[in-house]
Amino acid sequence: MNIDLIVNGKPVSVEVEPLDRLLDILRDKFDLTGTKEGCGEGECGACTVFMNNKLVNSCLVPAMHLQNANVVTIDGLRDFDFFKLISKAYEENGAVQCGFCTPGFVMSTIDLLRKKSEKSIGDEEIKDAFAGNICRCTGYEKIIKAVRQLFTMNIKVPERFYE
Ligand code: FES
Ligand code: FES
Repeated sequence: MNIDLIVNGKPVSVEVEPLDRLLDILRDKFDLTGTKEGCGEGECGACTVFMNNKLVNSCLVPAMHLQNANVVTIDGLRDFDFFKLISKAYEENGAVQCGFCTPGFVMSTIDLLRKKSEKSIGDEEIKDAFAGNICRCTGYEKIIKAVRQLFTMNIKVPERFYE
């Protein structure tokens, strides 16, 4: 089947099988390898992308649900100023070790920052936002510290990324 969708702001058309996973389409057809595969079962969050402006696990989305979808991946967000500030905060707080989980945590962080306008956030709220993300090496404390720091910085994340 052929599907039309928007990936990182660009209209694209691609030939796929109905059960091909969004994760594989992004990585194999569009070379968007910043989106990672961890568990492949919707548990770890490494494959997180925005689809129609909501976070999804791309390992769980079949191609047959993608007609006219609007997908934004971590590779499509790297040039935004908010992304650079998030990367810096993660680095400064030692929140990245092997880095495998990081794309998923960063996507959840972006979603949290754009939904919340206050300049502070509680640890429980951060933990809730990361409920779908698993890190096997850094430990969550450093990631939470990075997010707390980001909330003091008045970072502007647009409601939609490409429009
Ligand atoms: S690879 Fe998709 S949630 Fe783990
Ligand atoms: S930094 Fe290695 S899994 Fe999180």
